[in-house]
Amino acid sequence: MGYVLDRRQWLKTSALAVAGLMAGPDFLACRRKSSILEQNSSADDFIMLHNNESPFGISPNARESITRSIHLSNRYPHGYYSDLIDLIAERENTPPDHIILGAGSTDVMVTLIHLAKTEGEILVGDPTYFDFIFYAKRSECSLNKVRLNDKFEHDLEAMEKLVSSQTNLIYICNPNNPTGSITPKDKLQLFCEHASKKALVVVHEAYHEYVEDEAYSSMIDLVKQRKNVIITRTFSKIFGLAGLRIGYGIAHPEIIKKLNKLSRNFAPVAWLSLKAAVASYRDQAFIQSVIEKNKQVKAFLYEELDKLGLCCIPSHTNFVLFKVDQDASELTKKLEAQKILVRPFGLNNKQWIRVSCGTKQELQTFISSLAELV
Ligand SMILES: Cc1ncc(COP(=O)(O)O)c(C=O)c1O
Repeated sequence: MGYVLDRRQWLKTSALAVAGLMAGPDFLACRRKSSILEQNSSADDFIMLHNNESPFGISPNARESITRSIHLSNRYPHGYYSDLIDLIAERENTPPDHIILGAGSTDVMVTLIHLAKTEGEILVGDPTYFDFIFYAKRSECSLNKVRLNDKFEHDLEAMEKLVSSQTNLIYICNPNNPTGSITPKDKLQLFCEHASKKALVVVHEAYHEYVEDEAYSSMIDLVKQRKNVIITRTFSKIFGLAGLRIGYGIAHPEIIKKLNKLSRNFAPVAWLSLKAAVASYRDQAFIQSVIEKNKQVKAFLYEELDKLGLCCIPSHTNFVLFKVDQDASELTKKLEAQKILVRPFGLNNKQWIRVSCGTKQELQTFISSLAELV
């Protein structure tokens, strides 16, 4: 993957690139809804490369489990929460009382934001996962944003300097969205150890299962050491269950208890989602096959973008952010007119497009349309 950087001498110019990534006010504008989808066209007509969903479907075991469980839909799913919780607890080697489930990881994050919504501020990288920023703003939280460093990592030194008695939540998205970059484990671990003495640290690991780089590691060990840290993950990405809305958080039971008290309702996750998650989580062969397919299409994407002379940031996820020399929103609209959906990022006068790793066929169509437009 490093070859994308080497060939384009990306790191040499990354300081400039980072200046471009500074999230200006237009960062929020990137959340524009697809105007075509709003006109009620069927989503099936579109090549959906804008939400980082998995194009590789769901585990056959999950499909079977959903079919077998459909008759349970008239019942509340109470008793079944523990099946998934126990499974995650066993895999992560934590007691079950360390786990909270939610309707997607966003659900858990929104509860965390409510927990933090007292006076004080939330410390975040910039740019980072849009929805976290969106919900924090919607809850009128005060945000203290710290620009990513020149390697697109969270600038942990700068962040640590800003941790104060005013900080009540620290959000680290690793790998980060929209950059796809990782923040190295050693630095992150030290940062979390220090910062968690003053505030709850959320390490959001939505793309955890995709990462192969040894510089990365989950921060789950800190949870086991009873640090003031919560890990959030999702079934929406590698497991392909975005439409079933299921995710989880792992933290010390005192944190989990507080979150449960604030949780939206008594059963936020549906039966079929729980069933699908259990079956997918157990299906290692399926997960491995998605990792492999994602790697292949990402390599294809890198190569094709490179042929078009477009620089991208090496990604540890299922999407790629690349820079364009024209208005990214206009370009997105032109692609949309051809029924291809991507996300524009207009960041401090530099223009970027984030494209999800669709199937090879979808990416071939995307690349041929893009080639005519750049
Ligand atoms: C960093 C990150 N977290 C979470 C999600 C998805 O959230 P959920 O688990 O609620 O589906 C995404 C989807 O794009 C994401 O990029």
